[in-house]
Amino acid sequence: MSRYLALVPAAGHGSRFGAPSPKQYLQLNGKPLMWHTLRALAAVAAIDTVAVVISPNDEWFDDFDWDLPKLQVLRVGGASRAESVRNGLDALDCAADDWVLVHDAARCCLSADAVERLLAEVGDDPVGGLLALPVPDTVKRADAERRVAVTVSRADLWLAQTPQMFRHGPLRQALQGAGLDAITDEASAIERSGGKPLLVEGDAQNFKVTYPRDLALARAVLAARKD
Ligand code: CTP
Ligand code: MG
Repeated sequence: MSRYLALVPAAGHGSRFGAPSPKQYLQLNGKPLMWHTLRALAAVAAIDTVAVVISPNDEWFDDFDWDLPKLQVLRVGGASRAESVRNGLDALDCAADDWVLVHDAARCCLSADAVERLLAEVGDDPVGGLLALPVPDTVKRADAERRVAVTVSRADLWLAQTPQMFRHGPLRQALQGAGLDAITDEASAIERSGGKPLLVEGDAQNFKVTYPRDLALARAVLAARKD
């Protein structure tokens, strides 16, 4: 039986957010933002390990008592998200056919339900898959003057989210070699190797905290869930 492990890249600086500490450590309803992320993953029974990748120079992680089951800390973060994920995969102790669910630390409103749906729909798929949202709005392509060049059909367009789940061996293989900077999610690395990941419907609440304005929404979503 293959295991399921979660791998959470959390070695970014949050430059677009612009806070003194990286956004994953900001206080959100009494806990660091990333605590909510890690807790959602730990709440999924099938996942036996939640490994978080932090920077070797991280000054914040040890200040908090995370008090979460299944948590493993890997101080191997790299210069880009893809590099942090690749280093985390190298450091994980698991078999080549074990499933790894890579999830952004900054997507703190992940629900256990969405993860369960991903696990169920991907099943024993030979490639793997990811949570994603069908594009809800009308889509425009701009020209150089920021005028509408064309309206693009939204049929078949999806917005990629995380978790993205692939088997450890093929994902590690896909993240080797040059061109890592152009890789912004695991699925595109797998696509580059010829695989076609399965799209599983996520939900709008699983957004990534990127700008300060996103924090109020995350706060409200988490508070509503508690009630
Ligand atoms: N990440 C990482 N290592 C990096 C860069 C990013 O582990 N060198 C992680 C972030 O901590 C985050 C996730 O990848 O959980 C998604 O990245 P993003 O939202 O872009 O976070 P930051 O890179 O921190 O933010 P910004 O791009 O605004 O600097
Ligand atoms: Mg970034």
